[in-house]
Amino acid sequence: MTCYLNGEFLPLEDAKIPVLDRGFLFGDGVYEVIPVYDREPLRLEGHWARLARSLGELRIDNPHTDAEWTALFRELVARQSFGDQSVYLQVTRGVAKRDHAFPKDVRPTVFMMSNPLSTPTATQVEQGVSAVTATDNRWYRCDVKSTALLANVLLRQIAVDHGAAETVLLRNGFLTEGSASNVFAVKDGTILTPAKSHLLLPGVTSDLIVDLAAGAHLPLQFCDVPETLLRSADELWLTSASREVLAITTLDGRPVGNGVPGPIFRRMHGLFQAAKRRPLNAAAA
Ligand SMILES: Cc1ncc(COP(=O)(O)O)c(C=O)c1O
Repeated sequence: MTCYLNGEFLPLEDAKIPVLDRGFLFGDGVYEVIPVYDREPLRLEGHWARLARSLGELRIDNPHTDAEWTALFRELVARQSFGDQSVYLQVTRGVAKRDHAFPKDVRPTVFMMSNPLSTPTATQVEQGVSAVTATDNRWYRCDVKSTALLANVLLRQIAVDHGAAETVLLRNGFLTEGSASNVFAVKDGTILTPAKSHLLLPGVTSDLIVDLAAGAHLPLQFCDVPETLLRSADELWLTSASREVLAITTLDGRPVGNGVPGPIFRRMHGLFQAAKRRPLNAAAA
């Protein structure tokens, strides 16, 4: 499998970084996961915008223009033997003597790899998945897509330990997001999701869901979602690059709504499936 590291395309097993890389020592870096369908990325410009924002928030110079990123990305995609891909890219502050403070004159490390995209199974789409809730104990910059994911790792493991697909997070009694996904609720026909803030990652998939809802005239509101509303929702969905949009049908062992994926989910899932194969038109779907 061919990956990209600091200017070179090479086999993944040959890619090496120095142990003093700040990504390794401090988690001092950012990343993106970009879904690719039949070699065409979905919402590529949204990923470049979020990458630039994450880098800016960490005061790491963006090593590439969007056009350069796109050229590297397309070459990586072209070099794989499979069409549906999940492209992972990471930029760290670089390699320097270990010290918390920013080093001077350091060059960011740039790494990209691609894996086959694994989307939800037909059974998961038809039956939905289960989720558990947990207290959101992450830092206050969840809007930065940082590689420092220890809290997310521990929170996701709670789901795995319960045989569930995702951990839904509550901070001070309000929904934030999932351990690696955004969360939408449906109540009385309206789609509800928390507004963007420092408490959650601005998902590229969730932006697409919002655009698809607008295009289809499905009512959607950005609002606080208290725990009581989360637990009495008619439908719950999670969204991410690899999960696409998936219904949560069991929350903490109790059925969500009727316990099956709801009608608004099914509508949205259809819209998403149509949009993902024609990404350039996705916003207008
Ligand atoms: C914490 C968190 N929230 C939301 C998302 C969804 O983002 P996207 O739709 O861009 O994959 C992710 C993706 O991995 C995530 O890790």
